[in-house]
Amino acid sequence: MLILRRYLESCGCEPDLVELIRLIARQMETIRKAFLENQTFERTLNPSGELQTQMDTWADEHLIKVVGNSGLVRELASEEQPDIIRFDNSRTDYCMVMDPLDGSSLISTNLAVGTIVGIYEGGGVLQPGSKLRAAFYTLFGPLTVLVVSVGKGVQSFAWDQENEHYLLLRTGISIPEGKQYGTGGLRMEWLPEHVRVIDYFDQSGFKVRYSGSFVADCHQLLTYGGIYSYPGTTKNPEGKLRLLFEAIPLGFIITQAGGRITDGKRNILEIVPEKQHQTTPLYIGSKGIIEKIEEIYSSS
Ligand code: AHG
Ligand code: MN
Ligand code: MN
Repeated sequence: MLILRRYLESCGCEPDLVELIRLIARQMETIRKAFLENQTFERTLNPSGELQTQMDTWADEHLIKVVGNSGLVRELASEEQPDIIRFDNSRTDYCMVMDPLDGSSLISTNLAVGTIVGIYEGGGVLQPGSKLRAAFYTLFGPLTVLVVSVGKGVQSFAWDQENEHYLLLRTGISIPEGKQYGTGGLRMEWLPEHVRVIDYFDQSGFKVRYSGSFVADCHQLLTYGGIYSYPGTTKNPEGKLRLLFEAIPLGFIITQAGGRITDGKRNILEIVPEKQHQTTPLYIGSKGIIEKIEEIYSSS
């Protein structure tokens, strides 16, 4: 059975990159164990102004410590940290972006959450998604799953607790054209373009799927197709989801699986980030549906 390390090596990934991906992947067991004692909210707000959960801060501090000690990362930007962290001890030039725990408002309901990571090869963390060297996410469901792309398609692996390996689950994942959609934002605050997009779905026989965890909602797209969206609204024209920590890494993976990501007008992977906690409206999923959404936006 193919394991994560061998897969990464077979793609020609350099040893430091293999080590970095495996190092973070191995932390998932530790993070999973921490759920039991960290079920509630903190009183602190993150840089996006959202109430942090205990697991947001726990996973953030844990991953920063592990990554900092590894000597494998020069620069790190985290959704939970106000500033970019520099590690002067690094022997590599990797720059990493992370959402240490995505979907964290669902921890107290025991729904699926995960960790999102993007890795650039030098050049800092404020680079477009098209420049990513690798991206992966993990998902805590019945299985602990890791979905990775190093620019050679998308593969998923499942953690085998007994043998302490990530075993290949699905190879060459290709996103189908599905008929399901999820959307965030309050209906009363949607902009006219988004209303037209949702009307199109409702009139075309799409069904609704939305859990409140971006990583889980995107993961199901790899099996069923369809789209996830979080639009700009009257209150937040630039949307809610973070360009660096959420849109770019998942956009890279979904694009590698033959899907697409857009803000309605342009490919999000081409956007050059201006600041660390920048947000973007987004639609992500099956290629044909994204094309239809861009058509609706351009005719609005
Ligand atoms: P995070 O838990 O990292 O703060 O991210 C939450 C994000 C995303 O995971 C999810 O799709 C979205 O926010 C849900 O937002 P709403 O609760 O506004 O629907
Ligand atoms: Mn998130
Ligand atoms: Mn988060």
